[in-house]
Amino acid sequence: MSNGVDAATRRSSLHGLWSTRMAFILAVSGSAVGLGNIWKFPYIAGQNGGGAFVLVYLLCVFAVGLPVMMSEILIGRRGRRNPVATMQLLGEEEAGQSGWKLVGVAGVLAGVIILSFYSVFAGWSLAYIVGTATGQFVGGDPESVNNIYNDLKESWGISAFWHTAFMVMTVAVVARGVERGLERCVRLLMPALVILLLILLGYSISEGDFARGLIFLFKPDFDALTPSGFLIALGHAFFTLSVGMGAVMAYGAYLPEGTSIPNTSIAVVITDTAIALLAGMVIFPIVFANGLDPASGPGLIFRVLPLAFSQMTAGAFFGTLFFVLLTFAAWTSSIGLIEPAVAWLVEAKGLRRGTAAMLVGGGIWAAGFATLLSFNVTSDVQFWRGTLYTNIDHFTSNIMLPLGGFLITIFAGWVMCRNSSADELDVGVGVSYKIWRFLARFVAPVAVMFIFFHAVGVMDWLREMFA
Ligand code: TRP
Repeated sequence: MSNGVDAATRRSSLHGLWSTRMAFILAVSGSAVGLGNIWKFPYIAGQNGGGAFVLVYLLCVFAVGLPVMMSEILIGRRGRRNPVATMQLLGEEEAGQSGWKLVGVAGVLAGVIILSFYSVFAGWSLAYIVGTATGQFVGGDPESVNNIYNDLKESWGISAFWHTAFMVMTVAVVARGVERGLERCVRLLMPALVILLLILLGYSISEGDFARGLIFLFKPDFDALTPSGFLIALGHAFFTLSVGMGAVMAYGAYLPEGTSIPNTSIAVVITDTAIALLAGMVIFPIVFANGLDPASGPGLIFRVLPLAFSQMTAGAFFGTLFFVLLTFAAWTSSIGLIEPAVAWLVEAKGLRRGTAAMLVGGGIWAAGFATLLSFNVTSDVQFWRGTLYTNIDHFTSNIMLPLGGFLITIFAGWVMCRNSSADELDVGVGVSYKIWRFLARFVAPVAVMFIFFHAVGVMDWLREMFA
């Protein structure tokens, strides 16, 4: 089929474009670098044995995450619409099938649902900025630090206050549009984030047990790696790169013509990976220097790290910097999570951007209470994987994102005709096109099928069958 759009009939974005290639790299990196890098990556690496897990994670990021990201950007730029309209448009254009729009619908929904819990944790991070800055943790012991964490978690009113504040911050940026909102936000926050991280790295080198931290993070101990660790790494590759739900597709719709998709994607993936590793290099030396447990799970950032800071020289100051960093990272991600839904409302319903941002933001804010209350009022309501929050997290991160990523690579690799994808990737049919196409057609879909089967429990079932 060669019914792709040629240069003369290329569509244009309805929301404006990124002003430069750098702005796009910053925006996608901003969406990628988030709680996933600074909170989730260190604790899952800690729980899965460090070095060997990190190696597998790197493999997943480059062999699976990168081709999915390239696929999303190329689809996004070709369609130039919100993910729902883009998938429908290209589905019809490339294969005469409009059902592909469901991939876009699922993506918009995934963003909304992920942000509903993301914002609760980002709200905690805001609360910790105030807590660390006002010296609440100074000289604390395990019990008092634990109490501060529990008070926040268990009081839904206080959590709700910070969740509300964070949603307001997110809506305020997105309402201003691509150039004046999103782009200005990432141009300011991303460099600030890197500077904060480097300052904290200096602190960790001088005050932490840096050598031990490095050994933990980089010395592979393959005995500690379990099959499930492998799959956690693959799942996290999706989450951390923000792929599998059309968020990068939405950003790709604003990418100027003539910008190389392989080059920009590689820049983003390297930035995201570097920041996750740097975050690990900040956190683990501090954890070890204070005799704490690197495998303490999700509480690593909110319970263990504040305890470490409470014991250290200038801990209140550097602790505050750490939570500012975490909040900035979450903020540039939250705008990426909400953008697909906002772009969709603007295009499909003709709403003004500000109105659309407030409507979607309000809905997400309300949905956030499902997560918020599951730590206190409804903590006894347990089913399937655990609390309501555990189920929402599992369903989106481990089922919706991989499934979305799978369908996106199938679309870009198998459904779209070669001319269209080659034209859009801007590399003709050179080596990087061939590598991308191989990864997108074979490696990524097969790998994703594995995570997916694992997530829905097929692996356990098979094991039992053959045991
Ligand atoms: N990548 C983000 C993080 O690491 C989380 C995330 C997942 C995300 N999907 C997204 C952010 C889509 C923006 C858009 O924290």
